[in-house]
Amino acid sequence: MAAPIPSTDVAALAARRERLRTALAGRTAFFFAGRARPRNYPANVYPFRAGSHYSYFAGVSLEGAVLEVGPQRTVLHRVPPSTEDALWHGPGLEDEELLAATGVDALADVADVHRAVEAAREPCTLPAVDLATRIEQARLFGRDWPEPGPVGPDDLDEVDRALAEAVVELRLRHDADAVERIRAACRVTHAAHGAGVAATTPGVREASVRAAIEGTMLAMGAEPAYGSIVSVAGEVLHNTTYHRTLAPEDLLLVDAGAELDGWASDVTRTYPVGGTFLPEQRAIYDIVLASQQAAIAAVAPGVRFRDLHLAAARVIAQGLVDEKILLGDPDALVEAGAHALFFPHGLGHLLGMDVHDMEDLGDLAGYAPGRSRSAQFGLSYLRLDRDLEPGMVVTIEPGFYVVPAILEAPHLGRAFAERKMVDLDRLERFGCVRGIRIEDDVLVTSDGAEVLTASIPKAPADVEAAMAAGGFFQPA
Ligand code: GLY
Ligand code: MN
Ligand code: MN
Repeated sequence: MAAPIPSTDVAALAARRERLRTALAGRTAFFFAGRARPRNYPANVYPFRAGSHYSYFAGVSLEGAVLEVGPQRTVLHRVPPSTEDALWHGPGLEDEELLAATGVDALADVADVHRAVEAAREPCTLPAVDLATRIEQARLFGRDWPEPGPVGPDDLDEVDRALAEAVVELRLRHDADAVERIRAACRVTHAAHGAGVAATTPGVREASVRAAIEGTMLAMGAEPAYGSIVSVAGEVLHNTTYHRTLAPEDLLLVDAGAELDGWASDVTRTYPVGGTFLPEQRAIYDIVLASQQAAIAAVAPGVRFRDLHLAAARVIAQGLVDEKILLGDPDALVEAGAHALFFPHGLGHLLGMDVHDMEDLGDLAGYAPGRSRSAQFGLSYLRLDRDLEPGMVVTIEPGFYVVPAILEAPHLGRAFAERKMVDLDRLERFGCVRGIRIEDDVLVTSDGAEVLTASIPKAPADVEAAMAAGGFFQPA
């Protein structure tokens, strides 16, 4: 079993459970930490990370544990300490330590959790992401979930759906403890990007920069919250290859965020490998930055995230019209979806314990009741369509990408070229640009927003100064 993560403040955990209890109205929720997945043979596993719903209410990462939140009390069903476990994995927490760290009312042996499920009135649960645990849950709770694919909100029984909605209500708006932990993750990410800049120089491989970034995270007791993207092929949105050698005229897209104590951060910067942006790179970079800054400036309670996305898209469209890449009226271009040829993904998403927070529940967290995804290319990738509220943390991450598969597709690039909305030949002047994204983590406050990752340079002059200085190490 993995070492427990440092616990969330016990009072915060108790408050979360109390709010859940009220929402559950007599039902009993069971949250599964899950198990580590074997790489090949059973004893050789990928690092264990407890399920986020479990961790949110339990605070302490314990492989195989189940947290029961019932109307009267909270019980942590855990694998009891054994001599074997102590031999291979070291001594775990003593019962008193576990009780103190979690604030639960009682501990129990997880081997008997079926008895607690049987005894509960209306037991409910959320499907774990690891398949082995999910199969065990389906058996314990008599659920008919699809196997082996993802379980969406529409696959949930009524009681589980009610639990999912209650959990979303809680996790959507972060409490003070959560905000502090996200801030701490962002501080690690600042240092990691700084180390990445220090390692960025012509002739090295992407892998070396990744090593500097992730090595810094590990050295600070954190780890990557997701597969780091460190690539000169920035147009591959979720690129996780690292074999290319950096050339002076390349842009290096770094989308890397730390996870610390179970809480995530998610930051993208685009660095000129040679130290300064080429004029065409700078022109496009300025458009993406203007789009991001316009969106951030508009973040406030009550603002619909989809409107922010469209506003950011209009800034991109205007900039590309100015550069004669897109042709026509920016509003009409956005309406038609032409901007999505170059900015095909959504403006951002919820951030919390998961980098795309609660996406294991499909769009239940990201989309307000009554809203659903658009079918239009581009808008269909928007992961968040809620009215913002204080306590939410969202990413703001517009980008510009030259993706041949999109530009050559008959129903996309070719179709817009025929409608005279894009000049694909004009793009050749911008051959030094493959992908640019700028991403920050933004806390919605009572009257606006706070950019939690503002200390990581993004203004062109600051980026170039950081490249010249060989990094930036002190979190602001
Ligand atoms: N790093 C994944 C994302 O930005 O959504
Ligand atoms: Mn993101
Ligand atoms: Mn990202």
